Amino acid sequence: MAGYALNYLALAARDVEAACRFLGDSLELQRRDVPLEGRTIPFFGVGESAIAIFDFDDPYLEEPRFPGVHHMALGATDPAGTADKHGLTVTEEGIGPDGKRFVTIEPKETVGIRTRFIEPLDIPSAEGPAHKIDHLGIATDDNDATVRVFTDNLGCPIDSTQTDVEIRNVTESFISDKYGAIYHSRPPEILGGLRDVFITIGDCELEMLMDYDPTMKPKDQLGEEKGNTKGDQSAIAKFVARRGPGLAHVSFATRDIDALLPKLADDGWRMIDLEGRPGGRGSLIGFVHPSNFGGGLLIHFTEPQVDGGFAAKSFG
Ligand SMILES: [Fe+2]
Repeated sequence: MAGYALNYLALAARDVEAACRFLGDSLELQRRDVPLEGRTIPFFGVGESAIAIFDFDDPYLEEPRFPGVHHMALGATDPAGTADKHGLTVTEEGIGPDGKRFVTIEPKETVGIRTRFIEPLDIPSAEGPAHKIDHLGIATDDNDATVRVFTDNLGCPIDSTQTDVEIRNVTESFISDKYGAIYHSRPPEILGGLRDVFITIGDCELEMLMDYDPTMKPKDQLGEEKGNTKGDQSAIAKFVARRGPGLAHVSFATRDIDALLPKLADDGWRMIDLEGRPGGRGSLIGFVHPSNFGGGLLIHFTEPQVDGGFAAKSFG
């Protein structure tokens, strides 16, 4: 295996019980309560890694603490030696879930992506509507720096890169009852966009999301429209401005997003999307509303591209 694999992803929730119901009941992920310093933490196996749900105030999570994706733990049999081998600074060394040794890496050295190395935990996973983590969404302002850390230094391969822009085309018409019609098209105008880099960590990817033009400050007119590129850019820019670069969301892979999203709504979850819309790498994506878990924790689903991807589906 090239590079390192995600062993578990730590999510911090205001409403731990709701997050556990979502993963365990609605997504049918297999739960194992893992001991940690006299208490237990719910872990849910998914694909080759796991999701751990912490109260957002849990002392295992280094500060600053807020609801959302807190850190990723990469598997390494010798956590301290691994950090040393790659010249990374360790800010904390300790015993984590299941008595496994871990180290926390100085986040400035991983472009704000809170990263730990941990002796791998073994969390069983079962096949369900979400069969693995598809990617971890990362808000960044420097894709090149993330590639230097995770690919050049840690050896995790680049899956692909992508540029998404939203373009406005304006055509004016001049229609005379005597002289007929003249049409004048203005040059296309880029309203906003994102540059993405996907880096593989085991059976999932890190998805780096950077503004199309990092010198462009968030503009009021970029708006908040859900489901469009300029809306996504606005959300990424706001995240970086508020929290700095780092882990922003988690996406689970599903084989039938148009079946899963309405099913989750039927289960009582508030959904942003009820059907898949175009996402990165030719996939379909759909978001769950963060209010289900007390706010701050952003989860979406991805139906990966199969045979031509979303081109096979028409969008009106
Ligand atoms: Fe995503």
